[in-house]
Amino acid sequence: MTTSPQRVVWQQQHVVDVRDAAFAARTYREHADVRALIRNAVGAWRFQSACEVGAGFGRMTVVLTEFADRVTGFEREAHFVEEATRLLPNINFVQVGSLQELPAATASMDFVLTFTVLQHLTNPVAEATAKEILRILKPGGYLLICEETDPSHCDGATDDPNGMCTIGRPVPLYQRLFPTLELLATQPRRIEPTYPRDDVGTYMLFRKP
Ligand SMILES: C[S@@+](CC[C@H](N)C(=O)[O-])C[C@H]1O[C@@H](n2cnc3c(N)ncnc32)[C@H](O)[C@@H]1O
Repeated sequence: MTTSPQRVVWQQQHVVDVRDAAFAARTYREHADVRALIRNAVGAWRFQSACEVGAGFGRMTVVLTEFADRVTGFEREAHFVEEATRLLPNINFVQVGSLQELPAATASMDFVLTFTVLQHLTNPVAEATAKEILRILKPGGYLLICEETDPSHCDGATDDPNGMCTIGRPVPLYQRLFPTLELLATQPRRIEPTYPRDDVGTYMLFRKP
């Protein structure tokens, strides 16, 4: 195993790798798809509590406010939490030391979103984070993840928890990470058509029985 002396601090350009008009087009499409996936799954049900795990600066967390009374964004980078709190004051952004220990009660969330986060975690960290997501999800609650699923897409420091990496894990592997959840739906992630790659990941919607 290789280890970095200090961990990489994520910046905005790592969260979304395009800017300006392309950023706006991508985020519009992603909001629309997340909104439709949630609406199709739950109809008119309004959640008491929803959260995003790995919220960044709240780019996707904001959609959850359309569906839930209380929305929390858990994020490791303090500078993202500060900026998101200023921009989206109706959301409770919480800085966490890691995503493996979230300050949320067991079975307290009706809905959990994890958007392009697990793909950046090494295998042991992804496994521990998945267990933590399972812990906070209520029975009957939903988990929506959007992650790179092409196993040939693997780069960076894939065995260094302090580094930065992307690991494409196929859908069956995500089913094994969440063994007690039922996979309800999958669909390709859509982003702006000018992006140089076609396959940019998969939405996976799960329900906890
Ligand atoms: C690609 S960004 C996605 C952010 C947000 N979900 C979005 O779509 O705008 C990945 C997020 O995961 C967080 N992250 C990456 N590696 C992490 C790790 N090892 N532990 C905790 N958080 C991590 C980053 O700080 C960043 O907010």
